[in-house]
Amino acid sequence: MDTKPTVLVVGSTGMLGTKIITALLDKGTTNVRAMVRSSSDSDEKNREKIDNMKARGVSLVEGDLMNPETLLQVCEGVDVVVSAVGNNQVTVPGQKNLIDAAKQQGVKRFIPSDYSVDYRKLDYGDNDNLDMRKQVFEYLQQSGLEYTLILNGAFMDNVGTPYMPQFDLEHNTFQYWGDGETPLDFTTTDDTAKYVAEAVSDPELANKALEVAGDVLTAKQLKAAYEEATGNTLEEKPLGSVEELKAWIATKKPSASSPVEYVPQQYEYTMVSGKGKLDNIQNDRYPNIKPLTVREYLQKTPS
Ligand SMILES: NC(=O)c1ccc[n+]([C@@H]2O[C@H](COP(=O)([O-])OP(=O)(O)OC[C@H]3O[C@@H](n4cnc5c(N)ncnc54)[C@H](OP(=O)(O)O)[C@@H]3O)[C@@H](O)[C@H]2O)c1
Repeated sequence: MDTKPTVLVVGSTGMLGTKIITALLDKGTTNVRAMVRSSSDSDEKNREKIDNMKARGVSLVEGDLMNPETLLQVCEGVDVVVSAVGNNQVTVPGQKNLIDAAKQQGVKRFIPSDYSVDYRKLDYGDNDNLDMRKQVFEYLQQSGLEYTLILNGAFMDNVGTPYMPQFDLEHNTFQYWGDGETPLDFTTTDDTAKYVAEAVSDPELANKALEVAGDVLTAKQLKAAYEEATGNTLEEKPLGSVEELKAWIATKKPSASSPVEYVPQQYEYTMVSGKGKLDNIQNDRYPNIKPLTVREYLQKTPS
């Protein structure tokens, strides 16, 4: 008889979802089920991911977060739901539908799509994307389902890319708000996925957050780590205080044509203000995982 718990990954074709599937398969202690949208079939990139999942023994089920009737079947016989959906109009209503279906099907644990700073300590309005996490978490708590949150700070993979606004490599500049001395949390996506694979069946994480960080660096230390690992020296450009950053966002947001114009700065705000800092980093809980530091990550990654 198969006694392995069944883990359902929703968002399985996404950037992080794909890595979570790999980490679960590598760990090998669970049956892995992946929800895909039927429309995924027509997407060439997803086709390859789906074929890879099938080849590794993942059981595939079709469902759409915005079609609640599809989710009941998807959650049938599932022990743990791991959500890795992105940030869009589906994030809140889609995950609420998934929570409802999971509850109805007797799922034992729900891991929402967080993978972020500690948004529980933020105020509504601090960050548009993290506001959505707060809404989903409140709904999850009210549902009575057991939950585990995965909090990993910023994805380290974005260090030295335009996704992290501190790095203006076009102008060889490292620009930052605040005094540059506040500790900031970073974890790679691969390491985050490994921690998810541990968390799904860790009994001590019932209704708790797993807080992890591959590295904790101030902005000034981040610049130094980048320079040391890449050999590329950046000009340091302080932009103003944390309060000035808050004012910059408040002015920018109403006139922005897209959230891309201010949401990266909202993330920076949650970090440099210290408000979203992880207070209880528990890497030691899983000594088998050796998360990469920023220096190690950049040294391994071709620029
Ligand atoms: N801490 C950080 O620095 C950081 C940075 C980036 C992301 N994140 C977080 O990581 C998490 C995952 O993000 P990601 O970038 O990996 O997301 P992503 O690549 O955009 O993947 C989204 C997934 O959701 C699926 N999806 C979308 N709409 C759906 C629907 N209606 N029904 C079912 N599935 C649907 C997509 O399926 P299709 O393939 O069919 O479209 C895809 O598999 C998010 O919580 C995000 O905020 C954190």
